[in-house]
Amino acid sequence: MRLLGTLQQRARAQLPRAHYDYFAGGAGDEQTLRENAAAWRRVWISPRVMVDVSRVDPSCVLLGRRLALPILLAPMASQRLLHHDGELAAARAAGAAGTVYCLSTRATADLAEVAAAASGPLWFQLYADRNREHSERVLARAAEHGYEAVMLTVDLPVGGRRERERLHGAFPFPDGVALASHLGSRAATSQTPIGGWDCTLTWSDVGWVRAASGLPVVVKGVLSAADAVAAVEAGADAIVVSNHGGRQLDGCVPTAVALRDVAAAVGGRVPVLVDGGISDGADVVRALALGADAVLVGRPYAWGLAADGEDGVRDVLDAFAEDLRLTLALTGCATLADVDADRVRLAAW
Ligand SMILES: Cc1cc2nc3c(=O)[nH]c(=O)nc-3n(C[C@H](O)[C@H](O)[C@H](O)COP(=O)(O)O)c2cc1C
Repeated sequence: MRLLGTLQQRARAQLPRAHYDYFAGGAGDEQTLRENAAAWRRVWISPRVMVDVSRVDPSCVLLGRRLALPILLAPMASQRLLHHDGELAAARAAGAAGTVYCLSTRATADLAEVAAAASGPLWFQLYADRNREHSERVLARAAEHGYEAVMLTVDLPVGGRRERERLHGAFPFPDGVALASHLGSRAATSQTPIGGWDCTLTWSDVGWVRAASGLPVVVKGVLSAADAVAAVEAGADAIVVSNHGGRQLDGCVPTAVALRDVAAAVGGRVPVLVDGGISDGADVVRALALGADAVLVGRPYAWGLAADGEDGVRDVLDAFAEDLRLTLALTGCATLADVDADRVRLAAW
């Protein structure tokens, strides 16, 4: 969509280079970052005609909640680097659009502050901390403040080799911007991450997250059928096919390519979501046809937030919603359930 390109250009012009690169960049040579977007374009939509599409309904039900559209806002760290209202603005915009906002562990606003500002459903994204008690306290607070699910990110046992970040080195946060600890009044915020990522995490920890939060657990960062099965067997309530927006293992499979096998292995037992390079309504329809129940977008709303705060994120979600409706109608689908595997043809990967 042209809007996304325009917003990205504005973000690039407005932001300090180090901040822009932090959001835009990927790992290594950024092959996976590029291929995430390109792979969707190798999936051709195969429309049906002569279908009554006078009423197109893009709503879906996810973890028992009806959403106005199957497009959620992915967790992204440090959103106050993009706009002074950061996570609060993005959460408000998601609520206005009738969809979920996923708050990052590495947010620049406390989870209670975001819950107070939001009008729609919230999920809390967890990077498990090496200090398990710390994570348990954060999860208990998330549940207390009405977060409806925990999104457990499993593709970051260690940080990827992000060349752009290495080039700029550690950049100081502007005055008044810091990472929230999510521990409440007892703990301060920080310029650097609290604790560290837990690279000892295994499938048995899905149960630990559920017990600590009492919430459904959405496992984010699965790229293989074997891991999808392991996640379901470990008790995941949903799975996200994701390669972290190409920021972790460069050269790993684009999500559009991984999705079909994962969805087949899951076999409808739990919802399957996907993210990475999704940039218009056609990509959403492609994802649904390949077996996803919903998608998440990251950078597209980052650019909206940087360009125009809450209004910018609203513009992005409105544009996605309008384009999804149009694409569904032109594909001959009145509802998301009509988007089946026959609606796509695969060019050679
Ligand atoms: C700047 C940035 C920060 C991110 N921070 C997080 C994070 O804190 N937690 C997480 O699970 N994923 C994080 N992600 C990954 C996103 O949730 C998502 O998987 C990815 O951005 C989707 O790809 P897209 O940006 O092409 O839509 C981040 C992505 C970006 C671009």
